[in-house]
Amino acid sequence: MMFAFISPLQIKDDWPGYSLDLFSYPAHYSGDLDCVIIPHGVIMDRTERLARNIMDDLGDHAIVVLCVLKGGYQFCADLVDRIKDLSHNSNRTIPMTVHFIRLKSYLNDESTEDLHILGGEDLSFLAGKGIVGTGKTMKTLLKHVEAFGPKMIKVAGLLVKRVLHSSACVPDYVGFEIPNRFVVGYALDYNEYFRDLNHICVISNTGKMKYKI
Ligand code: HPA
Ligand code: MG
Repeated sequence: MMFAFISPLQIKDDWPGYSLDLFSYPAHYSGDLDCVIIPHGVIMDRTERLARNIMDDLGDHAIVVLCVLKGGYQFCADLVDRIKDLSHNSNRTIPMTVHFIRLKSYLNDESTEDLHILGGEDLSFLAGKGIVGTGKTMKTLLKHVEAFGPKMIKVAGLLVKRVLHSSACVPDYVGFEIPNRFVVGYALDYNEYFRDLNHICVISNTGKMKYKI
């Protein structure tokens, strides 16, 4: 089965973002952020559309959702909610189960060599099912998941960074294509900080220094 690839919402390299003064955000992060690159409301609106696209493509299959923690939890929760909304309001309801896996590969704002998969030792429940995975660092995980022989695998990612010479696999459903900058918020962290921020923001140098380990 082939699905049309719908290109994501593109945020250009010269996009300066919105001033933080235009939105509300936790006071404990004042000075730690440069700008809001994607406001929370826009994330929610785009996620609603991704749910629509997923339903159009997979509407006749049961869905096994594999959420990639920790950074993917908010996107996964919101995407699953939107899929539920659509499913409950149509006569094509989709049975859906949700599972969690944890990946860790970043220290400060650098990707480290070793990718740890936690909680994914037994994914045998995936056999013969369709999956929509959410999160980042998908390549290693896909290999791991494929070994369990699911009928269909679809990857949904909120963000894809524009990187030159990328050999990484592109998710089937992408929310936003963004400049290659380190971003935080909406569950994305810098050393575990900023997950409690609703907007997706660019961290400031002050913020990087403050939370460096
Ligand atoms: N922010 C947070 N975590 C990440 C990022 C990012 O920009 N890229 C990869 N992991
Ligand atoms: Mg992280």
